[in-house]
Amino acid sequence: MTGKWTEDLSVGVEEIDAQHKEVFATADALLAAVEKGGGHGEVTKVIAFLERYVENHFQMEETYMKRFHYPEYPRHKIEHTTFISDFYDLRQELDNDGVTPELTVRLANRIGDWLVDHIGQMDKALGAFLRKRL
Ligand SMILES: [Fe+2]
Repeated sequence: MTGKWTEDLSVGVEEIDAQHKEVFATADALLAAVEKGGGHGEVTKVIAFLERYVENHFQMEETYMKRFHYPEYPRHKIEHTTFISDFYDLRQELDNDGVTPELTVRLANRIGDWLVDHIGQMDKALGAFLRKRL
């Protein structure tokens, strides 16, 4: 089990919250796949979905930030970029070393921890800003 979306992670913007829930659910699906003994194919399929989804999600947030000239945009964007690059590194490891439960769990936990941290600070601040404008 990775971090879970709970009400205290709500940023107060429905579109953003819905996508955050989906990311948590997919990280859980990743763990479920590997727990069930899912092979390389199944696990990489979930990872590919997650990667695309996260990229789209970040883009959505960044579009809002740019549209409303959010002053914290550069700092926020750096966190997104760093996450994506960490994610690629871990995926690369999975591609090189094969899908091991250890690596998959590490990836899922990394996503969960990062999300809780990032949503709790960066996205909540963004949510508070957007709520006054949307
Ligand atoms: Fe964000």
